[in-house]
Amino acid sequence: MDAFENIITRRSIRKFIDKPVDDQMTGKILEAAMYAPSARNTQAWSFVVINNRELLDKLSVIHPYAQMLKKAPLAILVCGDKNLEKNEAYLSINCSAATQNILLCAHSLGLGSVWLGVYPRNERMEPIANLLNLPADNIPVSLIAIGWPDEQPPHPERFFKGKIHYNDIW
Ligand SMILES: Cc1cc2nc3c(=O)[nH]c(=O)nc-3n(C[C@H](O)[C@H](O)[C@H](O)COP(=O)(O)O)c2cc1C
Repeated sequence: MDAFENIITRRSIRKFIDKPVDDQMTGKILEAAMYAPSARNTQAWSFVVINNRELLDKLSVIHPYAQMLKKAPLAILVCGDKNLEKNEAYLSINCSAATQNILLCAHSLGLGSVWLGVYPRNERMEPIANLLNLPADNIPVSLIAIGWPDEQPPHPERFFKGKIHYNDIW
């Protein structure tokens, strides 16, 4: 699958079969994440690999829209490191770029995934940081549930010419 097809065919997957994701695939996904662009090339991110069933279940309780974590064998928490990037807006933008790389790499490996928003909601950030013992200078930005897909959502039409503008003509 080429890059364009990978981007176009990726869908959020919220149903997973009962099968673990092997360490080699997880490593590849993390490598893809770390090759994301970042403002001033700060690479101000850290990644928490969560494959402990008890922690995944607890996260599904903390996060109001993350029921799929009850079945997902794996989640990755993308954290922004405030020591490396002081500007929180850039921190979240950089981590978002890394998150998208994770989704696309997972899809290229035949895995399914879904982005679960954490930042900037304090009511999610605080309990997640506490549960996973994050150092105070690392803020959780996004959580990604990953596993082997048990659904195939339809392909939506998303290309709308009306969203494109040329030069100074809106
Ligand atoms: C910042 C952000 C936060 C999201 N949070 C959630 C979430 O909490 N739970 C969820 O099931 N999906 C979440 N999603 C996934 C979106 O619902 C999904 O990307 C959107 O419906 C488009 O579908 P697609 O990913 O299949 O293209 C989030 C996506 C983004 C970008």
